[in-house]
Amino acid sequence: MDRRPIFFETMHPVFVLLHAGYLLRTALDLRLPDLVGEEPASVAELAQTAGLNADLTHRLFRALSVAGVFRRTGPDTYAHNEFSLLLRADSGDAAAAVVNTFLKPDWTWQVWASLTDGVRTGTSPFSSVHGNDFYTFLGRSPEVAENFGRTMTLTLGDTNPAVADAADLDGVHHVVDVGGGQGTLLREVLQRHPEMRGTLFDIEAALAEVDAELRTGALAGRCAIVTGDARESVPAADAYLLRMVLHNWDDDTCVRMLSRCAEAGNPGARVFVVEMLRTDEEHSFVPLMDLQMFLLVGGKERDEEEFAALFERAGLRFRGVRATSTALHVVEARCG
Ligand SMILES: C[S@@+](CC[C@H](N)C(=O)[O-])C[C@H]1O[C@@H](n2cnc3c(N)ncnc32)[C@H](O)[C@@H]1O
Repeated sequence: MDRRPIFFETMHPVFVLLHAGYLLRTALDLRLPDLVGEEPASVAELAQTAGLNADLTHRLFRALSVAGVFRRTGPDTYAHNEFSLLLRADSGDAAAAVVNTFLKPDWTWQVWASLTDGVRTGTSPFSSVHGNDFYTFLGRSPEVAENFGRTMTLTLGDTNPAVADAADLDGVHHVVDVGGGQGTLLREVLQRHPEMRGTLFDIEAALAEVDAELRTGALAGRCAIVTGDARESVPAADAYLLRMVLHNWDDDTCVRMLSRCAEAGNPGARVFVVEMLRTDEEHSFVPLMDLQMFLLVGGKERDEEEFAALFERAGLRFRGVRATSTALHVVEARCG
């Protein structure tokens, strides 16, 4: 017999989208990814172990598997799939850091719930939701700040060699990593250039945990660690690195930061802005990151022309863009 879909089936993809975030959040709250082991798990046993309602646990797993998290292997059994594995606490340091920083905490959900207001007004809702801008919030929440810093290191650290390959630092005596966080990019650069000095520059909350090589290890003698606000001033140098810093800020603030580099930079100093490009259609997460930037910090992803315009307003000469072997691009400008 011909079977006609009922209307809810037509709407299925929309319901999956609607439910997915809440299902994910519930699975994380209940630590379901950690409860399922290597073998398919019986939902009844799992509910008993975790002290959950058996019927609802079963129904939750069914819905999760429809949304793409976990794989149904039998009437009462579920196994991990590639997405649920990413949510396990032992799935790897980077994945765990992202989950702990951006997927689990209430503060994230509260901001996303205000996206509608943000789209109406064009103003990032973070401050109205949390009473302070994101970085002030971090300054007052050491645990969140530490998670955030570690997440940046673990998720961006992989790109250090590619960025160091793409930024031409020949002849540079002193480089400042502006908003350098825990400093692993600067570590990579100083290891490659034994004559070079470096300064790791960031706000206080970000410098609580700095790479040990820079703080006390072999590179400490060539590395200064300086607390400051790049909107106000940056140290003098021959080159500046700003990786994933400008996408945190609106255009006027970016111009303020770049102007500080233009003022402090030695003649001909190089400014390397390392970012994803909004026009990069190869990487489908860029539009998601773009919205995340709006929500958290009022920032955005930009294209080449927009970076060139920021440089011009800051009195810097735009030199061009270099792709790296990752999703990041190195956008270069010169002082003077
Ligand atoms: C997305 S994280 C990137 C960290 C680091 N550049 C990396 O690639 O691992 C942005 C960094 O910019 C820093 N930052 C934001 N606003 C700043 C400001 N006004 N002055 C100095 N640093 C700032 C943050 O503290 C944070 O460490």
